[in-house]
Amino acid sequence: MKRALGVCYYPEHWPEDEWALDAQQMVDTGIAWVRIGEFAWSRLEPVPGQFDFDWLDRAINTLAAAGLRLVLGTPTATPPRWMIDRYPDMLAVAADGAPRGFGSRRHYCFSHAGYRSECERIARILGERYGRDPRIHAWQIDNEYDCHDTALSWSPAALAGFQAWCAARYGTIDALNAAWGNVFWSMEYSRFDQIGLPNQTVTEPNPSHVMAFRRYTSDAVVAFNRAQVDVLRPLTDAPLIHNYMGRILAFDHFAVGRDLDIASWDSYPLGFPFDRIEGDGASRLRFLRQGDPDFQAFHHDLYRAVGRGRWWVMEQQPGPVNWAPYNTAPLDGMVRVWTWEAFAHGAEVVSYFRWRQAPFAQEQMHAGLLRPDRVPAPGRAEAIQVASEIAALPDIAPVQAPVAIVFDYASVWAWETQPQGADFDYFRLVFSAYRALRRAGLSVDIVPADDPDLTGYALTLVPGCATLSDALQTAVAEASGAVLVGPRSNAKTTEMAIPVPLPPALPWLDITVARTESLPPDYVSRVPGGGAIGHWLEHLEGSAPRLLETEDGHTVLVGTARKAYLGAWPNDALWDRIIADMATEVGLSCAKMPDGVRLRDTATHRFAINYGAEAATVDGHTVGPADVAWWPRERD
Ligand code: GAL
Repeated sequence: MKRALGVCYYPEHWPEDEWALDAQQMVDTGIAWVRIGEFAWSRLEPVPGQFDFDWLDRAINTLAAAGLRLVLGTPTATPPRWMIDRYPDMLAVAADGAPRGFGSRRHYCFSHAGYRSECERIARILGERYGRDPRIHAWQIDNEYDCHDTALSWSPAALAGFQAWCAARYGTIDALNAAWGNVFWSMEYSRFDQIGLPNQTVTEPNPSHVMAFRRYTSDAVVAFNRAQVDVLRPLTDAPLIHNYMGRILAFDHFAVGRDLDIASWDSYPLGFPFDRIEGDGASRLRFLRQGDPDFQAFHHDLYRAVGRGRWWVMEQQPGPVNWAPYNTAPLDGMVRVWTWEAFAHGAEVVSYFRWRQAPFAQEQMHAGLLRPDRVPAPGRAEAIQVASEIAALPDIAPVQAPVAIVFDYASVWAWETQPQGADFDYFRLVFSAYRALRRAGLSVDIVPADDPDLTGYALTLVPGCATLSDALQTAVAEASGAVLVGPRSNAKTTEMAIPVPLPPALPWLDITVARTESLPPDYVSRVPGGGAIGHWLEHLEGSAPRLLETEDGHTVLVGTARKAYLGAWPNDALWDRIIADMATEVGLSCAKMPDGVRLRDTATHRFAINYGAEAATVDGHTVGPADVAWWPRERD
């Protein structure tokens, strides 16, 4: 499939007599797709029940006449002010009990039935008007669920929804009391309507209660999205998309994704390092104008799985953003590199946010492809270069990677609910394993824990998966490739209790986690031969062969090089070692990548992406600084 470029455009922000010029310049840039409409509710329905579609019709006419394919957004992330008058209790409520007010965006609670029906109403009106319009080639539902921490809401609507959810899940109050262990501290309930939200307890609430509320919250996001899907499906054949985010983990993206046709995400490589990646000062400075070499790729791989193979970058940073603590400008070449990296991982479309920098309101400091004075910003030339390269390059066909990492949103919530150590973070653990695989030059697929097809993978990692379902246990036991489970895998039941028999309860390995330790950040225990462990250490019992131990005699890795359990949190050097050993065992060739260089294989080509500021050589090919190179793959 030929890859394509897109752009996010807000006709309502600009004088109408400039739209045609914008459209023509988009086409001249090599852009094929344009997304519009996702925040325009106040212009579509300025007064309740009174619609103005004329401007949108004219915008669609103008953009389509230039040859652009349109993505139309439902505007439900930005309810207009009158909506709050209609439903004052639709606002989400923060954990401290304060409502989250009007004046920015995403000011709604996912659980509010009245607002949900308003979303269905506007989706229906838009679907009836544009669903069969051949110029609308895709739909985006809402915008960035959970952006600005908006999934969790402690509102009356969430309370009522949670009580009903508990009644449906547990059936009887006795069953709930038993599942949560409410006999502890006399927390037993006699009716579902006595259950509160776990936000204003005197001390730590029951982890089972918290975990149930996290599951409820995720289900509320799925239901909110599904409500619009159900409205739009009969009205259009165009694919339905949502734009997810980087390291946003409060809802199960796999579950939302199963209701949609294409996954997409919003990639802001220079915003993320200061905003949501743990890192040391030195590596932040080294990649200050390039971004983290693995963070984008991780999400490309994650959302390829969420989209069941079909995914886009709906918003790609084209220059400095406005929202991180520090906002640097990309090194020359990086806009092109980010774009090609996404294509190498299988993105169908990469769409820049935004066309033209707006000189007003919250995002006035956020770059576009054009400056506020409509002079091209530096990112535009790189987009033009990518467009010409797409035309010259043969089609890209994604291919299954040799390595899989199992990813599980419920484990995020489990370890946030009961981290046991202040820095035990599921994403960080999984990402540290992912980084190590990529430092070894391996391409990676992400596999959902609740649909674990491990067929064809030479190596699978299952780090920190709080509960191993029967399906995952079977997939791991029957995997023909090598498998590494742990640390902390299968350490909780789905109700957030300790399972007996004790973890990890792997039918293929005689090993038991007898007790655990969490360790402060400065603690390091070396492993003879290279590497060390920190953060987390399990004391293991059982007859499984010991493969690695710390200098002071704690077991780290047990089993065989094909099927192993990891009882500690490795540092980078130890991850590298473990992965090299297991990859060698199954005949995977891996090599230490130059700093900042990463590979991704497609069916026909190997792509080398250089986040470094100096040239590097891989497989005999030179990749320039902030550059990407590709060459035909040697078939295995
Ligand atoms: C995204 C969002 C856009 C815009 C952008 C700025 O989170 O979807 O509307 O705010 O960030 O970087």
